[in-house]
Amino acid sequence: MEVYADYSATTPVAPAVSEAMMKVYRTQYGNPSSIHRTGRAARHIVDSARRDIARLLNAEPKEILFTSGATEANNTAIKGAAYKREHLGRHLITTQIEHHSVLYVFQYLEKKGFEVTYLPVNRYGEISLNDLKLALRPDTILVSVMFGNNEVGAIQRVDEMAELLKNHQAFFHTDAVQTAGHMPIDVKELGIDMLSLTAHKFYGPKGIGLLYIRQGTELEFQQLGGAQETKRRAGTENVPLIQGMATALKLATEHMDERNVRLMQLKEYFLNALQDRNIPFEMNGNRNMQLPHITNLYFPFSDVEIMLTLLDMAGVFVSSGSACTAGSIEPSHVLTAMFGEDPRTKQSVRFSFSYKMTEEEIDYIADQLLKIYEMNKERSE
Ligand SMILES: Cc1ncc(COP(=O)(O)O)c(C=O)c1O
Repeated sequence: MEVYADYSATTPVAPAVSEAMMKVYRTQYGNPSSIHRTGRAARHIVDSARRDIARLLNAEPKEILFTSGATEANNTAIKGAAYKREHLGRHLITTQIEHHSVLYVFQYLEKKGFEVTYLPVNRYGEISLNDLKLALRPDTILVSVMFGNNEVGAIQRVDEMAELLKNHQAFFHTDAVQTAGHMPIDVKELGIDMLSLTAHKFYGPKGIGLLYIRQGTELEFQQLGGAQETKRRAGTENVPLIQGMATALKLATEHMDERNVRLMQLKEYFLNALQDRNIPFEMNGNRNMQLPHITNLYFPFSDVEIMLTLLDMAGVFVSSGSACTAGSIEPSHVLTAMFGEDPRTKQSVRFSFSYKMTEEEIDYIADQLLKIYEMNKERSE
């Protein structure tokens, strides 16, 4: 048996999405910038996808900037705001648990002379509103806090942070990549200035994402050339991928509630399956403020790289936030932010599920974990 349980790394493309994309690939090869009929047909697809996406996020179509994914959206938002607003101040705020496509941009800006405050988290991966309040300065020009964490699933009170920033000059950006399809994203209700998404996390294609930029949020754009995306991102649009992202977001939004119910059932089933087998574990995070598809568990009996290898050999595909650099495993920066230097940071595995998974698959994962546990027990006896 093979079980893929790494859906926060990526999801397969939904059949309806690939069909919608294939139709465009087969029939609409025009360049949306061409003024003839073939170009206009392609432009029509881009425009209507932008309208559909804007409606789903409660944004205006012109507030949606198509990008190659969230990495580019995050780079655009953070560098764009920093460079445009340098004259207003050079202080930036983010958190210790951001995805590297945010974290490394802030580290880069530090080298360019900006000052960055990295907000800490508690042991559940939660950022305190008060810490944000205390970190804010008159010269703060940007705050970036992720909506849902990709490793432990911690959800941040982005709406309350936006409220706090309402009367402050700082722009507020959120990386909502893991939240899409799991929590409603209404940009007006959230009150944020910028929000990043990437389609392959919600059963859409890879290589396409977006940045929502609230009207009036002035950025310095990096990519020069053609006049695409109202001169904010030069380069011929990838029409099939844009169509794919719009179809995927529509499906993810329409089916969100029923999928979430299923995901919560699966999480419950998984935790019970581990308990029934007497496998020792602890959850990293607070289950009540957690994305439904992510479960990050600490197993006190084995190092993560051994576990991932054994699970892979058994056909269970999961991951950890640890990065492999120069042959050695670095503990996850998210778990380190939550627990400090603790063996736990090297003994934790992220399971991320899909609404399509079955109880049989979950049992299979639990059985393989039991085998690893028993093997380790025998060895240590
Ligand atoms: C929270 C978060 N932000 C950003 C990204 C980057 O997305 P992409 O690789 O599609 O650019 C990811 C994907 O791993 C993510 O999980």
